[in-house]
Amino acid sequence: MRIDIITGLPKMLDSFIYQSIMQRAQNKGLVEVVVHDLRDYSNNKARQIDDYQFGGGAGMVMMIEPIAKCIRKLQAERKYDEIIYMTPDGKRFEQRIANKLSLLQNIIILCGHYKGVDERVREHFITMELSIGDFVLSGGELAAAVVADAVVRLLPGVLSDETSALTDSFQDNLLAPPVYTRPADFEGWKVPDILLSGHEANIAEWRFQQSLERTKARRPDLLEE
Ligand code: ADE
Repeated sequence: MRIDIITGLPKMLDSFIYQSIMQRAQNKGLVEVVVHDLRDYSNNKARQIDDYQFGGGAGMVMMIEPIAKCIRKLQAERKYDEIIYMTPDGKRFEQRIANKLSLLQNIIILCGHYKGVDERVREHFITMELSIGDFVLSGGELAAAVVADAVVRLLPGVLSDETSALTDSFQDNLLAPPVYTRPADFEGWKVPDILLSGHEANIAEWRFQQSLERTKARRPDLLEE
């Protein structure tokens, strides 16, 4: 898979894409994440990428020209399955969307800033608009990083234990059960006996019941879906 991230603040993403799972996935050749600096596609010497909005009002708007130039250059190199714009008024990003995106070959993620992008970008280039929640970030970079992380960890071979992504919270609309590791007894706080019993079927049943109880208590809305 290839993920191209277009941003006016590439440094915000540099550290993220070279850490931990992201780095490991790229080293294994499972994903290629490329960050593009919008200023490299600006029309003018000042490398300007935003301007005042028509009609007046506070806040700068990201111009269509640098964005169009960058997207078109990428599209000339390969076909993209989705061109995603990160915005608080987009569709709420959820696990099922991460699952779908993880099956794609090439995606572009455009990060907005300031008051957002010129509406014509959304009308003519963007195929999917995503929000990571009902709050406003100062830019789409962190949101793009959230989406990239959630997608990349689903790619086969990225996680060392292949099944572990399947047992995450939300994969079956249930929250994950509690987990424990050594010591079995910490100052009298014990791990549930059943987990030490070695009885696989009983353990699986216990975990399922715990998931169900946890979901009922914390996220009953998931059970209604
Ligand atoms: N850009 C600013 N806020 C955002 C949000 N909540 N989700 C996605 N992109 C954003």
